[in-house]
Amino acid sequence: MSSFHRDTWVEVDLDCIYENVRALQRHVTEGVVVITVVKANAYGHGDAQVAKVALEAGAKYLAVSFLDEAMSLRKQGITAPILVLGASRVSDLPLAAKEKITLTVFQKEWVEEAVSAYDDAQLETVNLHLKLDTGMGRIGVRTKEEVAHIMKLTEKAPHLQMEGVYTHFATADELQSQYVEQQFKRFDVMLDEITKHYNIPLVHCGNSATTLRFPTRIFNAVRVGIAMYGLTPSPEMEPTLPFPLKEAFSLHTKLVHVKKLSIGESVSYGATYTTKEEEWVGTVPVGYADGWIRKLQGMDVLVDGKPAPIIGRICMDQFMVKLPYELPIGTKVTLIGKQGDKQISSNDVAAKLETINYEVPCMISYRVPRMFWRNKNIIEVRNYLQDKPVE
Ligand SMILES: Cc1ncc(COP(=O)(O)O)c(C=O)c1O
Repeated sequence: MSSFHRDTWVEVDLDCIYENVRALQRHVTEGVVVITVVKANAYGHGDAQVAKVALEAGAKYLAVSFLDEAMSLRKQGITAPILVLGASRVSDLPLAAKEKITLTVFQKEWVEEAVSAYDDAQLETVNLHLKLDTGMGRIGVRTKEEVAHIMKLTEKAPHLQMEGVYTHFATADELQSQYVEQQFKRFDVMLDEITKHYNIPLVHCGNSATTLRFPTRIFNAVRVGIAMYGLTPSPEMEPTLPFPLKEAFSLHTKLVHVKKLSIGESVSYGATYTTKEEEWVGTVPVGYADGWIRKLQGMDVLVDGKPAPIIGRICMDQFMVKLPYELPIGTKVTLIGKQGDKQISSNDVAAKLETINYEVPCMISYRVPRMFWRNKNIIEVRNYLQDKPVE
Protein backbone atom coordinates (compact mmCIF):
# COMPACT_ATOMS: atom_id res chain seq x y z
CA MET A 1 0.00 0.00 0.00
CA SER A 2 1.52 3.32 -0.97
CA SER A 3 1.15 6.31 1.31
CA PHE A 4 0.69 10.02 0.68
CA HIS A 5 1.85 13.18 2.33
CA ARG A 6 -0.80 15.75 1.51
CA ASP A 7 -4.21 16.41 2.99
CA THR A 8 -6.21 15.94 -0.22
CA TRP A 9 -7.44 12.58 -1.42
CA VAL A 10 -10.09 10.74 -3.45
CA GLU A 11 -12.09 7.89 -1.95
CA VAL A 12 -13.46 5.23 -4.28
CA ASP A 13 -16.14 3.01 -2.78
CA LEU A 14 -15.61 -0.28 -4.64
CA ASP A 15 -18.71 -1.75 -2.97
CA CYS A 16 -20.79 0.76 -4.98
CA ILE A 17 -19.07 -0.35 -8.19
CA TYR A 18 -19.65 -4.02 -7.32
CA GLU A 19 -23.34 -3.39 -6.70
CA ASN A 20 -23.77 -1.28 -9.84
CA VAL A 21 -22.22 -4.03 -12.00
CA ARG A 22 -24.41 -6.69 -10.33
CA ALA A 23 -27.51 -4.58 -10.94
CA LEU A 24 -26.54 -3.95 -14.57
CA GLN A 25 -25.92 -7.67 -15.13
CA ARG A 26 -29.35 -8.52 -13.63
CA HIS A 27 -30.93 -5.83 -15.81
CA VAL A 28 -29.60 -7.36 -19.06
CA THR A 29 -30.01 -11.00 -17.92
CA GLU A 30 -27.26 -13.50 -17.13
CA GLY A 31 -26.32 -14.53 -20.67
CA VAL A 32 -25.28 -11.05 -21.80
CA VAL A 33 -21.53 -10.32 -21.59
CA VAL A 34 -20.88 -7.19 -19.56
CA ILE A 35 -17.85 -5.30 -20.88
CA THR A 36 -16.87 -2.71 -18.29
CA VAL A 37 -15.26 0.44 -19.65
CA VAL A 38 -12.21 1.36 -17.58
CA LYS A 39 -10.50 3.80 -19.93
CA ALA A 40 -9.03 7.04 -18.58
CA ASN A 41 -7.94 5.35 -15.34
CA ALA A 42 -11.51 4.05 -14.97
CA TYR A 43 -12.97 7.55 -15.44
CA GLY A 44 -10.54 8.74 -12.75
CA HIS A 45 -11.52 6.00 -10.27
CA GLY A 46 -8.42 3.73 -10.58
CA ASP A 47 -8.13 1.31 -13.50
CA ALA A 48 -6.97 -2.00 -11.97
CA GLN A 49 -8.94 -1.61 -8.74
CA VAL A 50 -12.19 -0.99 -10.66
CA ALA A 51 -11.37 -3.75 -13.16
CA LYS A 52 -10.87 -6.30 -10.36
CA VAL A 53 -14.12 -5.53 -8.59
CA ALA A 54 -16.08 -5.39 -11.87
CA LEU A 55 -14.76 -8.85 -12.79
CA GLU A 56 -15.64 -10.11 -9.31
CA ALA A 57 -19.17 -8.81 -9.86
CA GLY A 58 -19.54 -10.80 -13.07
CA ALA A 59 -18.11 -8.64 -15.87
CA LYS A 60 -16.35 -10.80 -18.46
CA TYR A 61 -14.49 -8.24 -20.54
CA LEU A 62 -12.85 -4.84 -20.05
CA ALA A 63 -12.56 -1.95 -22.50
CA VAL A 64 -10.07 0.89 -22.71
CA SER A 65 -9.30 3.58 -25.22
CA PHE A 66 -5.76 2.77 -26.36
CA LEU A 67 -3.11 0.08 -26.06
CA ASP A 68 -1.09 1.74 -23.28
CA GLU A 69 -4.18 1.67 -21.06
CA ALA A 70 -4.57 -2.05 -21.73
CA MET A 71 -0.87 -2.58 -20.94
CA SER A 72 -1.30 -0.72 -17.66
CA LEU A 73 -3.96 -3.26 -16.67
CA ARG A 74 -1.77 -6.20 -17.73
CA LYS A 75 1.15 -4.80 -15.70
CA GLN A 76 -1.15 -4.70 -12.67
CA GLY A 77 -2.00 -8.36 -13.05
CA ILE A 78 -5.33 -8.21 -14.91
CA THR A 79 -5.61 -11.24 -17.18
CA ALA A 80 -9.23 -10.83 -18.39
CA PRO A 81 -9.90 -10.03 -22.06
CA ILE A 82 -9.47 -6.33 -22.86
CA LEU A 83 -10.87 -4.52 -25.90
CA VAL A 84 -9.15 -1.38 -27.18
CA LEU A 85 -11.96 0.87 -28.42
CA GLY A 86 -9.83 3.43 -30.23
CA ALA A 87 -7.39 3.25 -33.13
CA SER A 88 -4.24 1.17 -32.67
CA ARG A 89 -1.17 1.12 -34.91
CA VAL A 90 -0.81 -1.90 -37.20
CA SER A 91 2.82 -2.04 -36.05
CA ASP A 92 1.55 -2.79 -32.52
CA LEU A 93 -0.23 -5.99 -33.61
CA PRO A 94 2.58 -8.24 -32.26
CA LEU A 95 2.31 -6.54 -28.86
CA ALA A 96 -1.48 -6.96 -28.84
CA ALA A 97 -1.02 -10.64 -29.77
CA LYS A 98 1.56 -11.21 -27.05
CA GLU A 99 -0.53 -9.49 -24.36
CA LYS A 100 -3.82 -11.00 -25.60
CA ILE A 101 -5.44 -7.63 -26.15
CA THR A 102 -8.35 -7.28 -28.56
CA LEU A 103 -8.16 -4.48 -31.11
CA THR A 104 -10.83 -2.54 -32.94
CA VAL A 105 -10.94 -2.62 -36.74
CA PHE A 106 -12.52 0.51 -38.14
CA GLN A 107 -11.34 0.92 -41.76
CA LYS A 108 -10.26 -1.29 -44.63
CA GLU A 109 -6.81 0.32 -45.00
CA TRP A 110 -5.92 -0.93 -41.50
CA VAL A 111 -6.82 -4.52 -42.39
CA GLU A 112 -5.05 -4.33 -45.76
CA GLU A 113 -1.88 -3.14 -44.04
CA ALA A 114 -2.21 -5.80 -41.30
CA VAL A 115 -2.64 -8.60 -43.84
CA SER A 116 0.33 -7.50 -45.95
CA ALA A 117 2.61 -6.80 -42.95
CA TYR A 118 2.15 -10.09 -41.09
CA ASP A 119 1.27 -13.63 -41.96
CA ASP A 120 0.22 -16.33 -39.52
CA ALA A 121 3.81 -17.50 -39.08
CA GLN A 122 4.84 -14.07 -37.80
CA LEU A 123 1.91 -13.32 -35.57
CA GLU A 124 0.03 -15.17 -32.87
CA THR A 125 -3.73 -14.83 -33.18
CA VAL A 126 -5.18 -11.42 -32.37
CA ASN A 127 -8.86 -10.99 -31.60
CA LEU A 128 -10.56 -8.13 -33.40
CA HIS A 129 -13.90 -6.34 -33.03
CA LEU A 130 -15.28 -4.63 -36.12
CA LYS A 131 -16.57 -1.13 -35.43
CA LEU A 132 -19.46 0.07 -37.58
CA ASP A 133 -20.20 3.78 -37.82
CA THR A 134 -23.97 4.00 -37.84
CA GLY A 135 -24.15 7.72 -37.12
CA MET A 136 -21.59 8.70 -34.51
CA GLY A 137 -19.22 9.92 -37.24
CA ARG A 138 -16.09 9.13 -35.23
CA ILE A 139 -14.35 5.89 -36.26
CA GLY A 140 -15.95 2.92 -37.97
CA VAL A 141 -16.89 1.34 -41.26
CA ARG A 142 -19.81 3.04 -42.95
CA THR A 143 -20.76 0.86 -45.93
CA LYS A 144 -21.78 -2.74 -46.56
CA GLU A 145 -19.14 -2.93 -49.32
CA GLU A 146 -16.33 -2.01 -46.94
CA VAL A 147 -17.63 -4.51 -44.37
CA ALA A 148 -17.66 -7.27 -47.01
CA HIS A 149 -14.10 -6.40 -48.12
CA ILE A 150 -12.80 -6.48 -44.52
CA MET A 151 -14.55 -9.76 -43.75
CA LYS A 152 -13.07 -11.39 -46.86
CA LEU A 153 -9.57 -10.25 -45.95
CA THR A 154 -9.77 -11.45 -42.35
CA GLU A 155 -11.33 -14.75 -43.39
CA LYS A 156 -8.13 -15.51 -45.28
CA ALA A 157 -5.93 -14.43 -42.36
CA PRO A 158 -6.32 -16.99 -39.55
CA HIS A 159 -4.16 -14.88 -37.22
CA LEU A 160 -6.80 -12.12 -37.36
CA GLN A 161 -9.88 -13.46 -35.56
CA MET A 162 -13.07 -11.43 -35.87
CA GLU A 163 -14.53 -12.01 -32.41
CA GLY A 164 -16.94 -9.10 -32.26
CA VAL A 165 -18.88 -6.44 -34.12
CA TYR A 166 -20.16 -3.24 -32.61
CA THR A 167 -21.42 0.29 -32.96
CA HIS A 168 -21.75 3.32 -30.69
CA PHE A 169 -24.81 5.53 -30.31
CA ALA A 170 -24.57 9.31 -30.27
CA THR A 171 -27.83 10.21 -28.54
CA ALA A 172 -28.87 7.23 -26.40
CA ASP A 173 -28.94 9.47 -23.32
CA GLU A 174 -31.58 11.76 -24.86
CA LEU A 175 -35.19 10.74 -24.30
CA GLN A 176 -36.10 11.83 -27.83
CA SER A 177 -35.32 8.54 -29.55
CA GLN A 178 -35.50 9.30 -33.27
CA TYR A 179 -31.74 9.41 -33.94
CA VAL A 180 -30.92 6.36 -31.84
CA GLU A 181 -33.67 4.43 -33.66
CA GLN A 182 -32.06 5.39 -36.96
CA GLN A 183 -28.72 4.09 -35.69
CA PHE A 184 -30.35 0.83 -34.49
CA LYS A 185 -31.81 0.41 -37.98
CA ARG A 186 -28.49 1.00 -39.77
CA PHE A 187 -26.77 -1.43 -37.39
CA ASP A 188 -29.40 -4.09 -38.14
CA VAL A 189 -28.94 -3.68 -41.90
CA MET A 190 -25.14 -3.97 -41.72
CA LEU A 191 -25.33 -6.87 -39.26
CA ASP A 192 -27.68 -8.79 -41.58
CA GLU A 193 -25.09 -8.49 -44.32
CA ILE A 194 -22.39 -9.93 -42.04
CA THR A 195 -24.38 -12.70 -40.38
CA LYS A 196 -25.53 -14.05 -43.78
CA HIS A 197 -21.96 -15.22 -44.36
CA TYR A 198 -20.11 -15.18 -41.06
CA ASN A 199 -20.56 -16.13 -37.47
CA ILE A 200 -19.24 -13.44 -35.14
CA PRO A 201 -19.64 -14.41 -31.46
CA LEU A 202 -20.04 -10.99 -29.81
CA VAL A 203 -22.40 -8.23 -30.96
CA HIS A 204 -22.71 -5.01 -28.96
CA CYS A 205 -24.21 -1.55 -29.29
CA GLY A 206 -25.01 -0.61 -25.72
CA ASN A 207 -23.25 2.07 -23.71
CA SER A 208 -24.77 2.79 -20.26
CA ALA A 209 -27.70 4.82 -21.60
CA THR A 210 -28.66 2.19 -24.19
CA THR A 211 -28.27 -0.62 -21.65
CA LEU A 212 -30.43 1.14 -19.06
CA ARG A 213 -33.13 2.19 -21.54
CA PHE A 214 -33.26 -0.70 -24.03
CA PRO A 215 -32.19 -3.85 -22.13
CA THR A 216 -33.93 -6.18 -24.58
CA ARG A 217 -32.31 -4.66 -27.67
CA ILE A 218 -28.63 -4.85 -26.81
CA PHE A 219 -27.69 -8.13 -28.60
CA ASN A 220 -25.35 -10.32 -26.51
CA ALA A 221 -22.89 -7.86 -24.92
CA VAL A 222 -22.90 -4.33 -23.50
CA ARG A 223 -20.14 -1.77 -22.87
CA VAL A 224 -20.93 0.06 -19.67
CA GLY A 225 -18.95 2.92 -18.21
CA ILE A 226 -20.65 5.79 -16.43
CA ALA A 227 -23.46 3.73 -14.84
CA MET A 228 -20.92 1.36 -13.27
CA TYR A 229 -19.45 4.38 -11.48
CA GLY A 230 -22.91 5.23 -10.15
CA LEU A 231 -23.62 8.23 -12.34
CA THR A 232 -26.60 8.65 -14.69
CA PRO A 233 -25.62 9.28 -18.34
CA SER A 234 -27.66 12.50 -18.52
CA PRO A 235 -29.84 14.59 -16.18
CA GLU A 236 -32.93 13.89 -18.31
CA MET A 237 -32.48 10.15 -17.76
CA GLU A 238 -32.46 10.55 -13.97
CA PRO A 239 -36.24 10.00 -13.49
CA THR A 240 -36.23 7.00 -15.86
CA LEU A 241 -33.57 4.91 -14.10
CA PRO A 242 -34.75 1.28 -13.73
CA PHE A 243 -32.80 0.90 -10.47
CA PRO A 244 -30.83 3.27 -8.24
CA LEU A 245 -27.14 3.80 -9.02
CA LYS A 246 -24.57 4.22 -6.23
CA GLU A 247 -22.03 7.01 -6.72
CA ALA A 248 -18.55 5.64 -5.94
CA PHE A 249 -16.29 8.71 -6.17
CA SER A 250 -15.71 11.31 -3.46
CA LEU A 251 -13.07 13.99 -2.98
CA HIS A 252 -11.88 15.37 0.34
CA THR A 253 -9.33 17.70 1.84
CA LYS A 254 -8.65 19.36 5.20
CA LEU A 255 -8.38 22.89 6.52
CA VAL A 256 -4.68 23.70 6.72
CA HIS A 257 -5.04 27.35 7.74
CA VAL A 258 -7.87 29.21 9.52
CA LYS A 259 -8.09 32.94 10.21
CA LYS A 260 -10.55 35.70 11.03
CA LEU A 261 -10.59 38.53 8.48
CA SER A 262 -11.89 41.99 9.30
CA ILE A 263 -14.42 43.76 7.14
CA GLY A 264 -13.05 45.01 3.78
CA GLU A 265 -10.17 42.53 3.41
CA SER A 266 -9.60 40.74 0.12
CA VAL A 267 -8.84 37.12 -0.71
CA SER A 268 -6.70 35.49 -3.45
CA TYR A 269 -5.35 36.56 -6.86
CA GLY A 270 -7.01 39.56 -8.41
CA ALA A 271 -8.57 40.46 -5.03
CA THR A 272 -11.95 39.48 -6.51
CA TYR A 273 -13.52 38.74 -3.10
CA THR A 274 -13.76 41.28 -0.28
CA THR A 275 -15.28 40.53 3.11
CA LYS A 276 -18.51 42.35 3.93
CA GLU A 277 -18.22 41.62 7.63
CA GLU A 278 -15.83 39.86 9.97
CA GLU A 279 -15.42 36.41 8.40
CA TRP A 280 -13.77 33.11 9.28
CA VAL A 281 -11.76 31.95 6.27
CA GLY A 282 -10.17 28.52 5.78
CA THR A 283 -7.51 27.53 3.28
CA VAL A 284 -7.47 24.04 1.73
CA PRO A 285 -4.59 22.41 -0.19
CA VAL A 286 -6.28 21.68 -3.50
CA GLY A 287 -6.35 23.74 -6.68
CA TYR A 288 -6.62 23.79 -10.42
CA ALA A 289 -3.55 21.57 -10.92
CA ASP A 290 -5.52 18.89 -9.06
CA GLY A 291 -8.42 19.40 -11.48
CA TRP A 292 -10.44 21.75 -9.24
CA ILE A 293 -10.49 24.41 -11.92
CA ARG A 294 -10.91 28.17 -11.53
CA LYS A 295 -14.47 28.08 -12.88
CA LEU A 296 -15.49 26.40 -9.60
CA GLN A 297 -15.06 29.70 -7.71
CA GLY A 298 -18.35 30.26 -5.85
CA MET A 299 -19.21 26.53 -5.65
CA ASP A 300 -20.01 25.19 -2.17
CA VAL A 301 -17.93 22.61 -0.35
CA LEU A 302 -19.04 20.82 2.85
CA VAL A 303 -17.38 21.66 6.17
CA ASP A 304 -18.65 20.41 9.52
CA GLY A 305 -21.71 19.09 7.67
CA LYS A 306 -22.57 22.53 6.24
CA PRO A 307 -22.24 24.10 2.79
CA ALA A 308 -19.48 26.73 2.60
CA PRO A 309 -18.65 28.76 -0.54
CA ILE A 310 -15.27 28.92 -2.28
CA ILE A 311 -14.23 32.58 -2.10
CA GLY A 312 -11.73 34.33 -4.35
CA ARG A 313 -9.89 32.77 -7.24
CA ILE A 314 -8.83 29.14 -7.06
CA CYS A 315 -5.01 28.94 -7.14
CA MET A 316 -2.91 26.16 -8.64
CA ASP A 317 -2.66 24.24 -5.34
CA GLN A 318 -4.95 25.96 -2.82
CA PHE A 319 -8.23 27.81 -2.41
CA MET A 320 -10.11 29.62 0.34
CA VAL A 321 -13.51 28.88 1.85
CA LYS A 322 -15.82 31.13 3.86
CA LEU A 323 -16.39 29.11 7.03
CA PRO A 324 -19.72 29.21 8.87
CA TYR A 325 -17.76 29.81 12.13
CA GLU A 326 -14.33 29.18 13.58
CA LEU A 327 -13.22 25.59 12.94
CA PRO A 328 -10.00 23.83 13.92
CA ILE A 329 -7.16 23.21 11.52
CA GLY A 330 -7.46 19.63 10.27
CA THR A 331 -11.26 19.78 9.88
CA LYS A 332 -12.35 17.58 6.94
CA VAL A 333 -13.66 19.43 3.87
CA THR A 334 -15.64 17.51 1.25
CA LEU A 335 -15.64 18.75 -2.34
CA ILE A 336 -17.55 15.76 -3.77
CA GLY A 337 -19.37 13.35 -1.46
CA LYS A 338 -21.43 13.33 1.72
CA GLN A 339 -21.16 14.97 5.12
CA GLY A 340 -24.10 14.15 7.40
CA ASP A 341 -27.32 14.60 5.44
CA LYS A 342 -25.71 16.89 2.85
CA GLN A 343 -24.25 15.69 -0.45
CA ILE A 344 -22.36 17.28 -3.30
CA SER A 345 -22.50 14.97 -6.30
CA SER A 346 -20.32 14.96 -9.42
CA ASN A 347 -23.63 15.99 -11.05
CA ASP A 348 -23.63 19.26 -9.04
CA VAL A 349 -20.05 20.02 -10.05
CA ALA A 350 -20.92 19.26 -13.70
CA ALA A 351 -23.94 21.60 -13.49
CA LYS A 352 -21.75 24.40 -12.13
CA LEU A 353 -19.22 23.80 -14.93
CA GLU A 354 -21.97 23.47 -17.57
CA THR A 355 -20.56 20.12 -18.61
CA ILE A 356 -21.33 16.40 -18.24
CA ASN A 357 -20.73 14.38 -15.06
CA TYR A 358 -18.26 12.14 -16.99
CA GLU A 359 -15.75 15.00 -17.00
CA VAL A 360 -15.74 15.52 -13.24
CA PRO A 361 -13.93 12.42 -11.86
CA CYS A 362 -11.80 12.31 -15.04
CA MET A 363 -10.43 15.77 -14.39
CA ILE A 364 -9.18 15.05 -10.85
CA SER A 365 -5.51 14.71 -11.63
CA TYR A 366 -2.75 12.21 -10.87
CA ARG A 367 -1.62 14.52 -8.02
CA VAL A 368 -4.57 13.38 -5.92
CA PRO A 369 -4.07 9.93 -4.33
CA ARG A 370 -6.91 7.41 -4.55
CA MET A 371 -8.03 5.49 -1.45
CA PHE A 372 -10.02 2.31 -2.15
CA TRP A 373 -12.78 1.04 0.15
CA ARG A 374 -14.11 -2.51 -0.02
CA ASN A 375 -16.41 -4.16 2.53
CA LYS A 376 -16.14 -0.99 4.66
CA ASN A 377 -12.32 -1.22 4.87
CA ILE A 378 -9.55 0.67 3.12
CA ILE A 379 -7.92 -2.05 1.03
CA GLU A 380 -5.46 -0.01 -0.99
CA VAL A 381 -4.07 3.48 -1.42
CA ARG A 382 -2.60 4.56 -4.74
CA ASN A 383 -0.31 7.57 -4.91
CA TYR A 384 0.48 8.05 -8.60
CA LEU A 385 3.43 10.29 -7.70
CA GLN A 386 5.13 7.34 -6.02
CA ASP A 387 4.63 4.94 -8.92
CA LYS A 388 7.78 3.44 -10.33
CA PRO A 389 8.64 4.68 -13.81
CA VAL A 390 7.34 2.30 -16.48
CA GLU A 391 10.24 0.63 -18.31
C1 LIG B 1 -17.06 3.18 -27.81
C2 LIG B 1 -17.55 3.38 -26.42
N1 LIG B 1 -18.29 2.43 -25.83
C3 LIG B 1 -18.76 2.55 -24.59
C4 LIG B 1 -18.49 3.67 -23.83
C5 LIG B 1 -19.06 3.78 -22.44
O1 LIG B 1 -20.02 4.78 -22.41
P1 LIG B 1 -20.81 5.11 -21.06
O2 LIG B 1 -19.79 5.63 -20.12
O3 LIG B 1 -21.80 6.15 -21.47
O4 LIG B 1 -21.42 3.85 -20.60
C6 LIG B 1 -17.73 4.69 -24.38
C7 LIG B 1 -17.47 5.88 -23.60
O5 LIG B 1 -17.29 6.96 -24.03
C8 LIG B 1 -17.24 4.54 -25.71
O6 LIG B 1 -16.50 5.49 -26.29
